[in-house]
Amino acid sequence: MRVPVVAGNWKMNGNRASIQALLESIRAGFSREWESRFLVCGSFPYLDLISRLLQDSAIAVGAQNLSEFRAGAYTGEVSGEMLADAGCRYVIIGHSERRALFGETSQQVAAKFLRAQEAGLTPILCVGETLEQRQQGLTLDTVREQLRAVADVAGVDAFRHAMLAYEPVWAIGTGLTATPEQAQEVHASLRERIAVLHPEIAARLPILYGGSVKASNAAELFASPDIDGGLIGGASLDAQEFLAICRAAG
Ligand code: PGA
Repeated sequence: MRVPVVAGNWKMNGNRASIQALLESIRAGFSREWESRFLVCGSFPYLDLISRLLQDSAIAVGAQNLSEFRAGAYTGEVSGEMLADAGCRYVIIGHSERRALFGETSQQVAAKFLRAQEAGLTPILCVGETLEQRQQGLTLDTVREQLRAVADVAGVDAFRHAMLAYEPVWAIGTGLTATPEQAQEVHASLRERIAVLHPEIAARLPILYGGSVKASNAAELFASPDIDGGLIGGASLDAQEFLAICRAAG
């Protein structure tokens, strides 16, 4: 019922030349027979280029952030409409790096979620606990609270056109990966939280896992019933690694 999703999160990496080389390699190794949804999320200045390089491919384009405001006097901000105009169909919201390094609050995350949907973009809402929270037994409370902050504002119907990504902060870029059992427990809990409000939306909602996903652990993670693919950081910058992960999902 749910189609797996593989999303690359390039973070603040790349330039015109490296992006062109990466996407050429990915396109060369890509199979149209893989029946999943694929996308890559690049940095603002390159979204237009990425969209052009991925034209007529099965890989869609996403951004990594957007403004919580609509158009207007917000120097330095980028609106959801601008992202859509640059060819984006997706946008990552509430990544732990944005929450921790840029002080993004749950209220801002919720506002960005709304702005994304107003612009016709599919938000990929990230939730995840720190190591300390896990050690204190607060994992499920933490992620459910992060989800609640958005669901309260946006309403459950908004999750018809959204994705969740569970990204334990301690697993991001560290080489430590949640075990399939650890991830499955959290994914099932997130789905259950939505199911209380709307079982059909919960059953259709893609919940991706992110945090040191690699070619060597992707298949095992994706085999869990509530893990619907991955949000891939470091490994998405390597064409062969990314392709192997796409193959594992597809
Ligand atoms: P990682 O990053 O795959 O490099 O751990 C994942 C993410 O932050 O989205």
